[in-house]
Amino acid sequence: MEFNIKSYLASKRELIDRKLDALLKYSPKSITPLEESIRYSALSGGKRLRPILTIASNEAFGGKEELALPIACAIEMIHAYSLIHDDLPCMDDDSLRRGVPTTHNVYGEAVAVLAGDALLTDAFNVVVREGLSSGLRPKVLTDIIGDISLAAGSKGMIKGQSIDLALEGIKNVSVEQVEKMHSLKTGTMIEIAVTTGAKIGGANEKQIKKLSTYAKSLGLAFQIVDDVLDIEGGKSIGKEVGADARNKKTTYPELVGLKKSKLKARALTKKALKALKDFDDRATPLREIAFYLVDRKF
Ligand code: IPE
Ligand code: IPE
Ligand code: MG
Ligand code: MG
Ligand code: MG
Repeated sequence: MEFNIKSYLASKRELIDRKLDALLKYSPKSITPLEESIRYSALSGGKRLRPILTIASNEAFGGKEELALPIACAIEMIHAYSLIHDDLPCMDDDSLRRGVPTTHNVYGEAVAVLAGDALLTDAFNVVVREGLSSGLRPKVLTDIIGDISLAAGSKGMIKGQSIDLALEGIKNVSVEQVEKMHSLKTGTMIEIAVTTGAKIGGANEKQIKKLSTYAKSLGLAFQIVDDVLDIEGGKSIGKEVGADARNKKTTYPELVGLKKSKLKARALTKKALKALKDFDDRATPLREIAFYLVDRKF
């Protein structure tokens, strides 16, 4: 049967949404604003790209989906936290996320900060608890906890976010600096989503290295397209268009223009696909995801 990327993404999104809903269950009768805001941020849409990559990467090695799913959801929880904090007035000061008002706009800044804190911390509890109960090998479990915490922390995504803020309003920023920022703030979590799935699926070191190359290119392309959509995106992006210019962000299209940015994203996608050339048909979803993302309008 022919592979259909749209139905693949829709079915995995549904699977992830259902699991996330179960992982973030609180007593409906006594739900607190904090708990409500956690559910609001994590369950109101989103492409679910990172957890889908974890599942697709696990699939590339014939791994069991039930082992990858909870870990994939934990990665999405970390992503949801990063978006709540990214939208705060002290960061990008955004009022729209995933087509709905940002968490701090609905619940206030203090609750939004705490919702982010909780999602990050609880994500690691999910990894350990669900990883152990689903039978993930302890060696794999400790390995991925190390990987995910490194990627999310001060040497990965947070470092990228701090560079992003430091470059606001700065002139003469180089393309290399922007690429480094993009790779750190967005690429590291995308890379870890991919390699985590591969590790759960039993990939060897050589295969993981190839997947890292795939994900690094994919991650940078993804953030370049995000910058492009901030300029010429429509309602479908679910975010305010023009937010980067308002914040005087240094973005890829700001430096090299829209046309070159799109060409760069395309070249990176090609590079990502090349890294998968030795993989068999089970890597079809990973390949198709790369194709699909570069032309996205959302
Ligand atoms: C937004 O990520 C932040 C970036 C790193 C560009 P996504 O574009 O994956 O956002 P959602 O999860 O689909 O809302
Ligand atoms: C955010 O980058 C990256 C992280 C949340 C780590 P952006 O600030 O460009 O993301 P959007 O455009 O607000 O989604
Ligand atoms: Mg930002
Ligand atoms: Mg932002
Ligand atoms: Mg952006």
